[in-house]
Amino acid sequence: MAPTGGPVVRLALPLVLLAVLLACGALAAAAITEEEARRLFEELRCNTCHVEGGIASPWEEVLEEVGEEWPAEYATIDDAARDVEYMGQKMFRDFSHLMEVMGRNVGAPEDKLRQLEDFFRELFERGKAEAAEAKPAPEAARPGDRGAELAMVVVAAVAIAVIVAAAVYLATRRR
Ligand code: HEC
Repeated sequence: MAPTGGPVVRLALPLVLLAVLLACGALAAAAITEEEARRLFEELRCNTCHVEGGIASPWEEVLEEVGEEWPAEYATIDDAARDVEYMGQKMFRDFSHLMEVMGRNVGAPEDKLRQLEDFFRELFERGKAEAAEAKPAPEAARPGDRGAELAMVVVAAVAIAVIVAAAVYLATRRR
């Protein structure tokens, strides 16, 4: 018999580590918050054009458009992107293409651009869900809401606790 509680504990440890890794992965996959998105928008210099009095809508209006007007009018964010007039013509194949062109405007690195794209896609989906419920969008329900992330961490923590408890129970029962 192994001195450290036997095979059950040795099996449980990797499981616990896996649970922790999964929890971290879930957090990393969650969309960035509205505040983080706005900062990224500035950091990438999207606001060269997207500014009050500029050639494109300022941040607040982009938010409203993607999060409220598009969901009310279009089935998907890709349909909406195909309808965007850019330099006098509709030229985007889908929303990813729109973001790719936007990114090229400022030489944005791909990972940061992807974060913004994911943020906008989630914003649109939330708007869609809210339009379906036919009630005004509550401020707290915006994507990247820390509450949702916190809930995921709690769920992961509970899962880890259950695994540990089960492992300890099984290990002690053997003795
Ligand atoms: C060279 C100017 C320019 C730059 C730089 C630019 N955009 Fe745009 N963008 C436009 C124009 C023009 C439109 C089309 C209509 C509008 O917003 O008035 C547009 C449209 C959009 C739309 C569709 C929603 C909307 O308001 O029509 C999104 C989303 C967007 N841009 C994101 C970005 C992001 C993110 C960046 C930075 C990576 C960026 N843009 C940089 C000019 C620019």
